[in-house]
Amino acid sequence: MSPSVEVSPAQEWGASVGALLMHRVESQPGMRLCLPTGNTPEPAYAEFAARGGSLAATDVFLLDEFVLPEGHPARCDVMLSRALLDLLPDPPHTLHRLDVGADDLDAECRRYEALVEERPLDLTLLGLGANGHLGLNEPGTAVDSPTRVVALHPDTVRHAAGYGAGVAPERGMTLGLRAILASREIWLLVTGEHKAEIMLRALTGPVGPEVPASYLKEHANVTVLADEAAAALLRF
Ligand code: PGA
Repeated sequence: MSPSVEVSPAQEWGASVGALLMHRVESQPGMRLCLPTGNTPEPAYAEFAARGGSLAATDVFLLDEFVLPEGHPARCDVMLSRALLDLLPDPPHTLHRLDVGADDLDAECRRYEALVEERPLDLTLLGLGANGHLGLNEPGTAVDSPTRVVALHPDTVRHAAGYGAGVAPERGMTLGLRAILASREIWLLVTGEHKAEIMLRALTGPVGPEVPASYLKEHANVTVLADEAAAALLRF
């Protein structure tokens, strides 16, 4: 089934997605919600917080993490705190994340996957990498990939360096495509002209590992929430 695509003007995108998220979270106390970080979701998270949104009844799962030292400004857990959690009056009901400081990273990935698989995620928000990645599932990733340690694509390393001062990460840990695609519902967040071409490829090109986001076309409940610039090449 094709994802439904909802497009809003750039200046309204954050307000619109923030309001949708608030409504969705309020309508399902106890939901299991997987959240991404990066530049894209920030206006939506700011709006969620400004409206008085709360995750106090929500179990939050962080989508991925860079292998960087604790507290590094480009770490996904730090970005999530900065962009969302620190702006909320109460912490989430639970906050789960991949611990990149664990002694055995492969065992940590297995622990996280088992936790996520206990009960399907109710809603997963995703950003779209300029190279078509989802989480840190880079081009070449198989559809049934598990949660694992990954070597980052050079584009991702460059992009991640922009998230915070200092060294760029070379490795990351990510929820695998298998767990992502097992989510009951998925929202793909896409903004900016620089994402227009990859969005076109993901939504209209062949399904396969070259563009991991293309696998979303095989999921029954995906909504693409785009701004006009990102949707500019799509024909409706
Ligand atoms: P961005 O990253 O939101 O910073 O563009 C998206 C991604 O790489 O998944």
